[in-house]
Amino acid sequence: MKIDLSGRTALVTGSTRGIGRGIAETLAAAGARLAVVGRDIERAEDAAQSISSQARGFACDVGDVASITTLIEAVEKEFGAIDILVNNAGITRDNILFRLKDDDWDAVLDANLRGAFVAIRAASRGMMKRRWGRIINIASVVGIVGNKGQANYAASKAGLIGLTKTVAKELASRNILANVVAPGFIETDMTAAMTDDAKKTLYSQIPLERLGTPKDVGGVVTFLASEYAAYITGQVFVVDGGMVM
Ligand code: NAI
Repeated sequence: MKIDLSGRTALVTGSTRGIGRGIAETLAAAGARLAVVGRDIERAEDAAQSISSQARGFACDVGDVASITTLIEAVEKEFGAIDILVNNAGITRDNILFRLKDDDWDAVLDANLRGAFVAIRAASRGMMKRRWGRIINIASVVGIVGNKGQANYAASKAGLIGLTKTVAKELASRNILANVVAPGFIETDMTAAMTDDAKKTLYSQIPLERLGTPKDVGGVVTFLASEYAAYITGQVFVVDGGMVM
């Protein structure tokens, strides 16, 4: 079984580093054309160049509605279509409930949840016309089980799950599938800075006894974008080494 996405165009928000970069690399390895998106155009273009000759860099702030609308138009102009939309960009502004400021609530909900909604609304128009589309939203296990100090983040990720299920129901008749991938602890700059003791404590909660990699997440996203996933919509795929069952 070989996944072949040649002829498809994928847009991955927040794909200059971390999980988004792993997703972009995995989609590119399957042959997809790619829109690599970050806040900084130079970094996005650099990342695109090193990922694939079929990748182009675009700048967008997913916390800003106009910026997303402009992005979707620019990518459709460059590639002619967006077949696969991966809403990956996300931020945290952690604090315990009583110290959480309204601004921290708004910033996280705007980028993580409203950003995905606006991108889906804009990109799904073309998908509807072409009767083919894949929408994959990157949530978190925190959106399923909650987490102390992350009321805003957990709410945004739980919201993504409700948004995805609704999109799945509304757009199924147009052959547009929408699913969620919910990672657990993934190796990023943040986890690289953890002490060995902190890592050991973490591993004791993970049956597979390791952190995930961006490629672990990218593999599931690429499967969901492929023809092998043609009968799957409205589902949540947890990629966490068995931590949450
Ligand atoms: P990261 O911070 O390493 O990278 C985030 C990417 O999003 C970067 O490319 C950054 O430029 C971009 N970004 C951030 N704010 C943006 C904005 N306003 N507009 C456009 N782009 C923006 O993050 P990481 O760890 O790779 O996370 C990616 C996604 O996975 C996020 O949605 C995060 O919530 C989720 N996630 C991460 C986990 C982890 O262990 N790292 C676990 C569960 C979920």
